Amino acid sequence: MRPRIVDLYCNAGGCAVGYHRAGFDVVGIDIVPQPFFPFPFELRDALTFLAELIADPDHLGFDAVHASPPCKLWTVANRVHRANTATLFDPHPDMLGPTLELLADCPIPWVVENVPGAPMPNPVTYCGSSFGLRVRRHRLFSSNVPLTPPPCNHAAQGQPVGVYGNGGAWTRTAPGGGGVKVAGKEAAAALGVDWTDHQPNLSQMIPPAYTEHIGEQILASLTTS
Ligand SMILES: C[S@@+](CC[C@H](N)C(=O)[O-])C[C@H]1O[C@@H](n2cnc3c(N)ncnc32)[C@H](O)[C@@H]1O
Repeated sequence: MRPRIVDLYCNAGGCAVGYHRAGFDVVGIDIVPQPFFPFPFELRDALTFLAELIADPDHLGFDAVHASPPCKLWTVANRVHRANTATLFDPHPDMLGPTLELLADCPIPWVVENVPGAPMPNPVTYCGSSFGLRVRRHRLFSSNVPLTPPPCNHAAQGQPVGVYGNGGAWTRTAPGGGGVKVAGKEAAAALGVDWTDHQPNLSQMIPPAYTEHIGEQILASLTTS
């Protein structure tokens, strides 16, 4: 039987597919319906689900937990906006803090993902260039299992592409912010995604190669514990 992991805040399943490729069965939890999530799915509040799981981990039968709380509070764009408008008010609630507080009492392996700049405990950084992807998409991961990411390989990658927002592709030259944005099938390929090319999902998605690599480390910890 394959070990089971629950993917909290799953969206369309970038993290979930990586864990599945590593050898886990995956159940996804999101507060919004996710028609492109490729595994069993429950429409639930992640924090309520996590509190139930921690209260009785045997009952729900999961071997590990992953959580990707919404990151908008910590993005560079949001921090610049707040600095420019000199406001402490933020319309994006902090889901990361409450998730980490609950996980402090979690008896099974857990992994949390967020953007650079988020207040993560002892994070490691994953990068698309380490896996031959066209995106860079640096992301932080914290865990109660020691994680070792492969080093960035920016030189071999060359100019990375971006996958942002809901609109189409563009190429811009500096000044004014240069770069290449890709969309649709090209964006899916740039992220290493083969089950959807729905742009609103791709713009939030973690390349599955990251959690395939992490999932292998979590599996190794399960077999040695
Ligand atoms: C950044 S996305 C996660 C991306 C995903 N890890 C992936 O790789 O594709 C964050 C998700 O959190 C979900 N979300 C926000 N608040 C939530 C809550 N209270 N409970 C469950 N999901 C929630 C959003 O609907 C969104 O799909």
